[in-house]
Amino acid sequence: MSLSLRWRLAIWIVVAFLLVMAAISVTALLSFQRIVDSELDQGLSRDIERVLAQITLAGNLDDQQRLEQLVQENSLTGGEDSPFITVIRDVRGGVVASTPGLAAEEMALSPEEMARVSNGEVISRSVKLPGGQEFRVRTTRLAIGDVVLGIVQVGEATEESSRLLDTLQWVLIGEAAGGSIIALAVAYWLSRGALKPLQRVAEVAAEIEASDLSQRIDAQGQPREVQKLADTFDAMLERLDKAFREQRDFVLDVSHELRTPLTALRGNIDVLLMGESVDPETRAQMESMSMETARLIRLTNNLLYLASADAGREPEQRPVELDVLCLEVYRQTKDLRADVNVHLGSEDQVSVVGDRDLLKQMVLNITENAVKYSPPGGHVTLSLSKNDGQARIVVEDTGPGIPPDQLPRVFERFYRGNDRGKMGGSGLGLAIAQWVARAHRGEIRVESKVGRGSTFSAILPMEADAAGVGSPP
Ligand SMILES: Nc1ncnc2c1ncn2[C@@H]1O[C@H](COP(=O)(O)OP(=O)(O)OP(=O)(O)O)[C@@H](O)[C@H]1O
Ligand SMILES: [Mg+2]
Repeated sequence: MSLSLRWRLAIWIVVAFLLVMAAISVTALLSFQRIVDSELDQGLSRDIERVLAQITLAGNLDDQQRLEQLVQENSLTGGEDSPFITVIRDVRGGVVASTPGLAAEEMALSPEEMARVSNGEVISRSVKLPGGQEFRVRTTRLAIGDVVLGIVQVGEATEESSRLLDTLQWVLIGEAAGGSIIALAVAYWLSRGALKPLQRVAEVAAEIEASDLSQRIDAQGQPREVQKLADTFDAMLERLDKAFREQRDFVLDVSHELRTPLTALRGNIDVLLMGESVDPETRAQMESMSMETARLIRLTNNLLYLASADAGREPEQRPVELDVLCLEVYRQTKDLRADVNVHLGSEDQVSVVGDRDLLKQMVLNITENAVKYSPPGGHVTLSLSKNDGQARIVVEDTGPGIPPDQLPRVFERFYRGNDRGKMGGSGLGLAIAQWVARAHRGEIRVESKVGRGSTFSAILPMEADAAGVGSPP
């Protein structure tokens, strides 16, 4: 499953927010820690100065009792929980005096530290004692002139500042969590606004149909990126529209130009066939030529009809007597196949307003199909009735029927059923019939049962309410 652009945008904004929050938090915590440490160090420096001054007064570390007292004074409350600790060491690091109860060995110095301190360096570091308490400890040498008497370590508990640091940490985590939820909601809401123009482009593009490429998206006033997308799309539509029009005009011209010579050709062949002197072999060949020419004429007619449909040809608006028209179609189709029986069913007198040629082509296409696809011995019935202000031309056959999965596709251009190999045809007959019906504000319905036969019904509004002819829905 892929996430929508909107969610992706929102998530990326939240990720960016979290990264910024993390950077701010780390910087804030480190700075706070540094400030606290330097504050502690300053206090400890003062303590060290005091201790040093007092010991220096004595000039040596020999008076153990006095040192113990000094250490106690400097540890304020003293005892294990004292927040202040002091350790006095001799030059080798051995403890001379320390805050009572303090595990002074935990604060022992490494040889390297010993060397640094002996050289006059002051070392500050954090030490965790066995009780779990943490101290900031400052270590320095005790010297008179260049003579090193020992080492003094003074420490202060960091519990208070650790608690502050913890609190700050939790406040920052809380802010990041709360902020993320707010950022997600705001980002999601904002991205809706940002993507709205894109959605509009998609909607307009979806409305543009293949049959009407003259529409444009025209995203004036939209953000620059959207406008660019729409302009590119419009330019593509322009090219498609041009190519489509050129192709339609080409088909229109070619089929128009072919129709006249083909009709003349067929007429001449038929005239020759009427002659009595034609020997049987030549006659058979000429009959085949006549049939092939008829097929070509039908194909060019079909192409011409479809091209005129695409060009938006308006059907004529004249009264058409459908009963006469059906009779003509019956006469034209009854001899198409000797092994199929074509019947006229009930014939009401019905007139519609429309284009006679087109309507005849429509009925012819349906009836020809019924005859063409019927098995030997099949029956085709052509009937005409009127009902509720509608004319209904019904062509019923006892042919093979159309499988349900093919039924919705039979009106598509160039669609041919499974029998495409056996029967001639271009797959345009029903597409034209449907266009004609729609151009007359009517429709064609089909019912079919495999193995039983098919029924095609052309339903057209009758004369009285056919005022809107020419504007298919
Ligand atoms: N009465 C029918 N019985 C069975 N199948 C039919 C019938 N009418 C149409 N079909 C199916 O519908 C398809 C489309 O028909 P359509 O008339 O559009 O094309 P066609 O007959 O193949 O060729 P064209 O009519 O252009 O010469 C046919 O190929 C056929 O499979
Ligand atoms: Mg057909």
